[in-house]
Amino acid sequence: MNVIEIISTLTEIQARSDRMRRQGKTIVLVPTMGFLHEGHLSLMREGKSHGNDLVVSIFVNPAQFGPGEDLETYPRDLDRDLDLVRKEGVDAVFVPDVHEIYGDRFQTYVELEKLPNHLCGNSRPVFFKGIATVVAKLFNIVKPHVAVFGQKDYQQLVIIRQMVRDLNFDITVIGSPTVREPDGLAMSSRNTYLTPGQRVSALSLCQSLINAQALLESGVRDAAEIIDSATDRIRSHPDTEIDYIAVCDPETLVDVKTIDRPVRMALAVKVGKARLIDNMLLKP
Ligand code: PAJ
Repeated sequence: MNVIEIISTLTEIQARSDRMRRQGKTIVLVPTMGFLHEGHLSLMREGKSHGNDLVVSIFVNPAQFGPGEDLETYPRDLDRDLDLVRKEGVDAVFVPDVHEIYGDRFQTYVELEKLPNHLCGNSRPVFFKGIATVVAKLFNIVKPHVAVFGQKDYQQLVIIRQMVRDLNFDITVIGSPTVREPDGLAMSSRNTYLTPGQRVSALSLCQSLINAQALLESGVRDAAEIIDSATDRIRSHPDTEIDYIAVCDPETLVDVKTIDRPVRMALAVKVGKARLIDNMLLKP
């Protein structure tokens, strides 16, 4: 196992990145909130192929949690996370505390005008402002050449790409495919909230997406019909409460009515205590 640097201060990680850049290394950053699973680890493996200095950040970002959301109960296990990243050959882990990131009198946020007004942004008003802000900060702190994000959080990925373009970050953003359990459930730190019964209900998310592609292949082009079918399927399972089901343009996230080109189908469903999301590219 390689020696991993565990760093918790801004000055140390910034000095380290400066040193790596002087040595001609290509720094790859994988930002996470910890409680790592195979999905996160797949981003690290992807990251390895894009550079030669792999940095993982672990920070549960208060700014992206709204009142009444699960900030306090969000699962955490740093020892386990560090064991996992060691096995992936990560070079450094950045684990700051909240004060290190937000300090005193913090007041500068990154906010996008349009992309957050869709999908998850409707029910989580501060979410993407908190994400864009912390990711911009992590970009300035870690100074990566490349950053890897999961397609699992599709709207987040689109928003980060837009922010990088709009604010001219000199960073290549890689979108990495969703890793699923053998039965199809998208891996998520929040899956630990599910009871065995709810775990069965949670499968209806990915099944709805797979079924949507099948409907499309059978000739259905009306997005409303596809959304109705997914709604019925999910509602037929106990402990489910649909937040949204959308069929949208993959770049603008604007709803699509007639599917005559590739679209993203995305959904968010509360299953018991866990708010789960999933998405898939649908191709007619
Ligand atoms: P977190 O939910 O910990 O996810 C960290 C990264 O892992 C994100 O890019 C996410 O899309 C990716 N990921 C999660 N589950 C995945 C899966 N099943 N397959 C592939 N990738 C997956 O997303 C966040 O943290 C935060 O919002 C963050 C970007 C760190 C900002 O605070």
